[in-house]
Amino acid sequence: MKFHVMTLFPEMVEQGLHTSILGRAMDAGIISVDAVNIRDFSEDKHRHVDDYPYGGGAGMVMAPEPIFKCYESLTAGSTSAEEPVPAGRPRVIYLTPWGRVFNQEMAKEFAKEEELIFLCGHYEGVDERVLEEIVTDYVSIGDYVLSGGELPSMVMIDAIARMVPGVLTNEESGETESFMNGLLEYPQYTRPEEWHGQKVPEVLLSGHHAKVAEWRMQRSIDRTVQYRPELMDGVELDKKSAKYYRDLLNSEKE
Ligand code: 6GU
Repeated sequence: MKFHVMTLFPEMVEQGLHTSILGRAMDAGIISVDAVNIRDFSEDKHRHVDDYPYGGGAGMVMAPEPIFKCYESLTAGSTSAEEPVPAGRPRVIYLTPWGRVFNQEMAKEFAKEEELIFLCGHYEGVDERVLEEIVTDYVSIGDYVLSGGELPSMVMIDAIARMVPGVLTNEESGETESFMNGLLEYPQYTRPEEWHGQKVPEVLLSGHHAKVAEWRMQRSIDRTVQYRPELMDGVELDKKSAKYYRDLLNSEKE
């Protein structure tokens, strides 16, 4: 899968993603991330990419033409008024606080694409006309304001790439799968067996796989109920876990 990022800070995006699991996937040729500098498509000798807003006001607005040229360099060929985003072209995601809020479901959906283009805005925004012409998806990563689209695009690329077949090892995807049932992660422990006077829960030392699995499921339920109770609505539990959850809710009422 190919990720293209249109940005004023290409080093930030490239360096930030070239580590850990994604770095391994890039080295293996399963994914690629190419960050393109919008400034390289500026049309004046000072390499300006922004200008004053019509109507006045503070800040600068990113001009449409460098962004459009940058987009065309990635897609080859031109749009027309009749068909601003021709079929068969990669989706273009504009990162903005007013977009649809990104989640795991969206990560899975985007991971089905062969190629994605991210547009990172800066300053006070981007000229609306180029957004209308090339953007297919408006996405936010949460309800707070960031300085630009670079961090959000990196967040999205990490989450999407993990859903691309071959990026995670069998073991890693097994772990992800088990949390895709919508519960939060259970607590983990490693050596030493006792640390600062605290012992590792006995059951984890028992070697009894079924008991360990049951204990972990119950701790996941405890945690989800405590920290993100609203997530429980979307969760499907097996019979035993459902009973544990019911008893937990009933004991809370007492
Ligand atoms: Cl996608 N962009 C910016 N600039 N700020 C954000 C955001 C995106 N999502 C949350 N805050």
